[in-house]
Amino acid sequence: MPTVKIGLIGAGTVGSGVYRIIKVNNKLIEKRTGIKIELKKIADIEPARKRPVKIDKKLFTTDAYDLINDNDIDIIIELVGGTKIAKKFIIDSLKNKKHVVTANKALLAHFGREIFSEAEKNNVSVGFEASVGGSIPIIKSINESFVANNFKSIYGIMNGTCNYILSKMSEEDREFEEVLKQAQDEGYAEADPTFDIEGTDAAHKLSILILLLFGVFYDFEKIHVEGITNITRDDIKFADQLGYQIKLLGIAKRHKSGLEAGVYPALVKKGTQIADVSGAFNAIYLVGDALGPSMLYGMGAGMLPTASAVVGDIIQIARSIAADKPYNIVPKFYEKKSKLPLIELKKTTKKYYLRFDVEDRPGVLGKITTILGNNDVSIESVIQSGRKVDGGVVPVVIITHESIEKNLMKALKTINGLPKIKSESKVIRIEDL
Ligand code: HSE
Repeated sequence: MPTVKIGLIGAGTVGSGVYRIIKVNNKLIEKRTGIKIELKKIADIEPARKRPVKIDKKLFTTDAYDLINDNDIDIIIELVGGTKIAKKFIIDSLKNKKHVVTANKALLAHFGREIFSEAEKNNVSVGFEASVGGSIPIIKSINESFVANNFKSIYGIMNGTCNYILSKMSEEDREFEEVLKQAQDEGYAEADPTFDIEGTDAAHKLSILILLLFGVFYDFEKIHVEGITNITRDDIKFADQLGYQIKLLGIAKRHKSGLEAGVYPALVKKGTQIADVSGAFNAIYLVGDALGPSMLYGMGAGMLPTASAVVGDIIQIARSIAADKPYNIVPKFYEKKSKLPLIELKKTTKKYYLRFDVEDRPGVLGKITTILGNNDVSIESVIQSGRKVDGGVVPVVIITHESIEKNLMKALKTINGLPKIKSESKVIRIEDL
C-alpha cells in the first residue's frame, strides 16, 4: 500500500484533532483510499503543553525545519496561524517541493497570491478547505462540483462565534457583553475575540471565497468590514418586531459594474434559511447561473470539524501523490490586476434599519423624516415604543425603502447634529436575500 508521510506544524486544538483523526480512523482511511497516511513528526514550541488529545511524545520536535527539510515528508500541515512565521513555514515548504495543507485564512486573505504563485512554481498543492467554514466542503464544492458555473452572488454566516452570540442575545434577551463572556467561558469564543467580533475573521473567509468564485484578489484592507459589537438587545428586539433576525453576513454580489462585497451585521427576514441558522453553525448560500441557489451548512469551527477538513485535504493530495498525477487545488485563474472592480458600499442601494435615540418632544420625528426625505430616503415603517415623561429619551426605529447608501449617510450626518438627538444614529443594512 502506498504510504504518504506528513509533518504537522502547530499542535494546538485543530492540530490535536488532526492527530486524533489520523490515529483513530487510519484503518478506515486505508480501506477507503488504499493509501496509508503516516504522521511522521510534529513541530510545536511547547511539546509538553496540555492538549485535548494525548499525543505520542516521540513525535515532537520544537524546530519546524526538522519537518520542512525532511526529504521523507510529502505534505506539511501548517496549523500555527497568524501571518508572520506561518508564512515563512509555508513558503519554505513549497520551495522544498512539499505540498501544504493549512487552515490559515488570515494568511491566505493577505498573501494568497504569493503563496499560490510559489505553489505553482514548484508544482505542488496548497489545500485550504479548513480555512473557510470549518467542516463545510465549500472550497471543494466551488472548485469541483460547481466549477462549471458563473457565480452571481454569495452570502453566508462565516463566523460561528458571532452567530452564537447573536443567537443567544436573541433567544435569551441578553446584552452583547454578557453573552460574549459566557461564550468565552464555554470555549465558543477565544480569550481575545477581537478578530471574530469585529468581523475580520469572516472577512478573511469572504476574501478567499471571492477569489474562488470571481477570480479576483482584492487588497484585504479595501473590503468593507463591520462587526457585531454595536448590536444591542434592543436592536434585536426591534428587528424581531419587524419580522427580522440580525446576522453577521459575508456578502458578495456581482453587478454589471463590478462586485459589491463586505462583512456586516444585517437584518434578514425571519423564516428564511439563513435566518434559521443558529448557534455556532455556519451556512454559505451561493447562486450560480447553472446550479441556481445552493446552501451548505455545518460546523464552522471546533477541533474535530476543522480537523476533518484538514484531513480531507491531506487525503486528496495523498491520492494525487499515490497516482503520481499532480492534482492542483490551487486556483489557477486569479488575476494580477482585478478586472472586476470592487463597488464601494456607499454606492449600493438597500433598505436600512435606523434607530434614533431622541428626546420625546413634539416635532422631533417630523424633523428626522423631513431630512431623510430631502435626501431621497423614503420611509417604509416607523416604530416609536415607550413614552417617557418630561421629554425623556425614547428610541425611534425607521425602516427605509431601497435607498442609496451615500444619500442615507448624508441625511444621518445632518440628523446627528440635531440637538434633540441624544446619541449617534444606528444604521443596520437589510438584506432581502
Ligand atoms: N473563530 C472562527 C469562528 C472559527 O468563530 O467561526 C475559525 O475560523
